[in-house]
Amino acid sequence: MLAALGLLALAGVALAEVAFAQGAATGTAEVIAQRRAGLKRMGQHMEAMKPVVEAGGEVKSLEPRIDDMITWFRGLPALFPPGSDAGDTKALPAIWQDFGRFESLDQALLGQLAQMKQAAAADDKTGFATLYKSLGPQYCGTCHRPFRAR
Ligand code: HEC
Repeated sequence: MLAALGLLALAGVALAEVAFAQGAATGTAEVIAQRRAGLKRMGQHMEAMKPVVEAGGEVKSLEPRIDDMITWFRGLPALFPPGSDAGDTKALPAIWQDFGRFESLDQALLGQLAQMKQAAAADDKTGFATLYKSLGPQYCGTCHRPFRAR
């Protein structure tokens, strides 16, 4: 009787573990899909701003795009839970070996975006263009080079 109870308890633990592992796996796939969709949208904002900057057009109307980028990048670290380098993702394990650096690169980008928001609000075309040109190579690229697989 006791042995049977013990086996039941063990089976219960094993079932709970399977359920947990499945839950974690589903959660990881979802967070990866969510962050990749968001990053894609961030790339689309960059693409949409490019012709405006190149043509020297008014930049005030770009403010909502910058706002969306600020909101999204504020939430970026939470979309990289430990272990989410497994699956359909280019996130490198290096992210969790130095998460402080990963977060500080996100903060640096947010600093640049705050300046771009000011320039857009003031419709400062020249200022905005200068900030825009360094955004991709310096602030997006600086995080992609160490932390994203090619
Ligand atoms: C703090 C680090 C960090 C910063 C800053 C960052 N990225 Fe990324 N980005 C990543 C990582 C990591 C991936 C890989 C994500 C994955 O595959 O799960 C990625 C992937 C992407 C992708 C591919 C999405 C897809 O289709 O899978 C795009 C597009 C992208 N980033 C755009 C940008 C743009 C534009 C900026 C700057 C405005 C930027 N990123 C800034 C870390 C960053």
